[in-house]
Amino acid sequence: NIINNHTLHINAIKAPLSPKQPFFIGVAGGTASGKTNVCHMITTQLHDRRVVLINQDSFYYSLSDKILQKVNDYNFDHPDAFDTKLMLSCLEKLKCGQPVTIPNYDMNCHKRIEPERQVQPADIIILEGILILHDSRVRDLLNMKIFVDEDSDVRLTRRVQRLAIERGRNIENVLDQYSRFVKPSFEDFVLPTKKHADIIIPHAGENDVAIDLIVQNIRTKLGQHDMCKIYPNIFVMFSTFQI
Ligand code: ADP
Ligand code: C5P
Repeated sequence: NIINNHTLHINAIKAPLSPKQPFFIGVAGGTASGKTNVCHMITTQLHDRRVVLINQDSFYYSLSDKILQKVNDYNFDHPDAFDTKLMLSCLEKLKCGQPVTIPNYDMNCHKRIEPERQVQPADIIILEGILILHDSRVRDLLNMKIFVDEDSDVRLTRRVQRLAIERGRNIENVLDQYSRFVKPSFEDFVLPTKKHADIIIPHAGENDVAIDLIVQNIRTKLGQHDMCKIYPNIFVMFSTFQI
């Protein structure tokens, strides 16, 4: 049940990568669903390739001092909380093989801090974030779209563990934010993006089969990609074959 056949079909008739472009993977899913874990498992298996991981969180807007005074009323789970225009311009540059500078967002002070992060072009670029499949312009750049699916109770438990127990945030505050913003926004904006996924991974941490299939698929696509670099004419053959 990890393959969403409907969208897989659409993906299968897409043209192959042009020789110089990186392979873009989007990993979406609710808070604490295991997205970071999935990205690390994919990256570990692809150790022989240049892989770059970019977190959508880096593109949160810095909050002004006025908004910071009422930070508990701010919805960090709404699409408008992210500077998607800036993210798109970074992705376009990476697509053209150019290095980019991305913001360094600090979750504790809710602002961008120095130093910014320099990202070099890579073979594979993994984009991770709750709303990475929300914007159609971002989706159009992705060669593979993944949604990490986990039970809401499990996610809430992990979030409480992470924020209240590990990071020392007030537990009432964590639960209040969850019920006022995180859960409603998950239902309104994150969950509806599941339909755009090529692959849906349940119980990501234990799902080695899903990770193996994903890595195998990436290797196949990159193999075609490398062949195109060596034998440009084969690129045309692949295009014809796939269509
Ligand atoms: P996300 O990136 O979606 O917020 P993470 O991958 O950071 O999620 O995981 C959130 C928390 O849950 C982390 O503390 C992580 O250690 C824990 N976690 C992730 N996957 C599992 C799993 N399969 N079993 C138990 N804990 C997990
Ligand atoms: O890693 P994860 O996917 O959980 O990160 C996204 C979450 O981070 C969102 O659910 C949002 O509520 C939370 N967040 C926060 N404070 C910020 C920025 C994001 O609690 N300053």
